Amino acid sequence: MGIVRFATIGTSIITTSFLTALERVDGAEFVGAYSRNLENAREFSRNVNPEARAWDDLDALVASSEVDAVYIASPNALHPEQALRCIEAGKHVLVEKPFARSAREAEAVFRAARDRGVVAMEAMRLAHDPAYDSLTAALGRISPLRLSRLSFCTQSSRYDLVRQGRPSNIFDPEFAGGALMDLGVYVVNVALALFGEPGSLCAKAVLREVPCASGARRPIDIAGVAVLHYDGHEASLEYSKSSVNRLGCQVQGEGGTLLFDSLGYPRDARILWPDGSQEVLALRSEEDARAFETLGDLGNMVFETRDFVAAVVGKRSVGREAERTVAALRVMDDIRHRIGLEFPLR
Ligand SMILES: NC(=O)c1ccc[n+]([C@@H]2O[C@H](COP(=O)([O-])OP(=O)(O)OC[C@H]3O[C@@H](n4cnc5c(N)ncnc54)[C@H](OP(=O)(O)O)[C@@H]3O)[C@@H](O)[C@H]2O)c1
Repeated sequence: MGIVRFATIGTSIITTSFLTALERVDGAEFVGAYSRNLENAREFSRNVNPEARAWDDLDALVASSEVDAVYIASPNALHPEQALRCIEAGKHVLVEKPFARSAREAEAVFRAARDRGVVAMEAMRLAHDPAYDSLTAALGRISPLRLSRLSFCTQSSRYDLVRQGRPSNIFDPEFAGGALMDLGVYVVNVALALFGEPGSLCAKAVLREVPCASGARRPIDIAGVAVLHYDGHEASLEYSKSSVNRLGCQVQGEGGTLLFDSLGYPRDARILWPDGSQEVLALRSEEDARAFETLGDLGNMVFETRDFVAAVVGKRSVGREAERTVAALRVMDDIRHRIGLEFPLR
């Protein structure tokens, strides 16, 4: 395959960000957009590339011989069904986080991709950011680890809809929304990347009743905390869509404390040694940091897209990522079970 030709599903700001990232990746191009509304698809496509296609029929998109890969950025609950339709038609899929509603659903999609010989990968941008390689490498220097605090808490602009008693996909249990699925998925992924799978966990969450798209009223989590138990180490995970973390993250070991400013896009990380001295860690090459700065906190979408394209052309495998996606969803299934949150089937 020469150039990997991408179509997109979803026309919100994250798809625009993805296309900005795609422009910075060699060997890939945008060929068209799907929207439920054709005029919307046309306008979205034209803004990126006047030659690009527009679809309001997903079957037509997946049947197109002009498309090699599909970036799926629809509401969470639609990811597995849309991914399966693309995979069955022989398209590679880059699926926004969370990849699926549950570990079992994710496994079914990965199995289908393996059987069809196509690449399926979760758009988990942190898993592709070299900053996390530096952070992981630092852990051995401060071990044994004892207490950690990982946090991703921001107040969503759509939280106002919740306050007004209006539905919003991202807070809708019928669309598998909520704080755990939206931001908790990052925190769980980072915990697994840094510390591996926990022996067990406990969890609590703040639930709020919200109106759903169907008109029903159901509880959704707007903030939560989970403690992952490791051998000799407790990791506290915080996630919120209704309040803001101002403290960054820290990993405390007997040999020192690792601090980093932001879980979503670490810019500053340092080790504080017992004698009071500090060591600033290099997180990304200067070239990468400069090139990606236009995407702000979404800069690591470029790493993710670059890795996906490399997998599509056979230059790398995504087996490790798939295992991580399923393992994270398994932890999230457990957390949801403990906080009493269920997603109704659509
Ligand atoms: N990687 C990141 O940093 C990041 C950031 C934000 C979001 N995300 C992920 O991206 C995905 C989309 O999030 P979002 O906040 O953009 O969601 P959204 O605005 O609710 O929906 C995204 C798109 O899906 C389509 N859509 C909306 N409602 C729909 C419905 N009821 N049925 C079918 N299609 C519908 C819309 O496209 P059309 O109207 O054109 O059909 C919309 O543009 C989520 O999985 C989220 O977790 C990732």
